[in-house]
Amino acid sequence: MIKKYKGFVFDLDGVLTETSNAHFEAWRELATEMGFELPGHVIDEVRGISRLESLDIVLSYDHKPKEYSYDEKVALATRKNNLYLDKIKAYSQADLSEGTIELLELLKSNHIRIALASASNNAPFLLDAMKIKHYFDAVVDPKSISNGKPAPDIFLKACEMLDLEPHECVGIEDAEAGIESIKSAGLYPIGIGKLSNCEEVYPDLKSLLSHLL
Ligand code: BG6
Ligand code: MG
Repeated sequence: MIKKYKGFVFDLDGVLTETSNAHFEAWRELATEMGFELPGHVIDEVRGISRLESLDIVLSYDHKPKEYSYDEKVALATRKNNLYLDKIKAYSQADLSEGTIELLELLKSNHIRIALASASNNAPFLLDAMKIKHYFDAVVDPKSISNGKPAPDIFLKACEMLDLEPHECVGIEDAEAGIESIKSAGLYPIGIGKLSNCEEVYPDLKSLLSHLL
């Protein structure tokens, strides 16, 4: 199938590296600091969702809900980000999902263009830390996008930056919101992990690599 496409657009968290747990643990610590518990299934609710929108989801689990001003919300989201940064500060190539380098090399050797469509503002740091930045022909800045996943914007922008049409590209995601985004943008969707809204799903990146080889 690799020869059918000219571009591969990757999500980062939960695809190229297992940072979804670190994101969730940071939210859980924030909730604990605020005096409430976060149930485990919230990990899937915040998958692919922007920092401030994730905060609203997290706050909805407070049994004593409060009104927060925008500035208060920004302060809470910044606190979560600091907790998150502490968890990823020592990330290196060892934290890549197994098979990542081999997959990126395979795509390069087939002259396939590669882009990143991550909602995370920490993505450039992680690409650098994990030493894979040079594989990417385009990295979408989530700040340049008006509507986050599940809207198509970020995947459309990635295709535009690659100078390719969406139907010429594959999108790879671990989040239901991300798969929705890929589908509405018109790329071919591939899921990683457990997803109910995608036909072609692999348990991990290594299994996708084996399929493509
Ligand atoms: C996505 C994650 O990739 O990025 C979400 O799946 C996260 O959990 C979002 O909220 C934004 O990330 P950040 O690092 O900018 O807070
Ligand atoms: Mg993800």
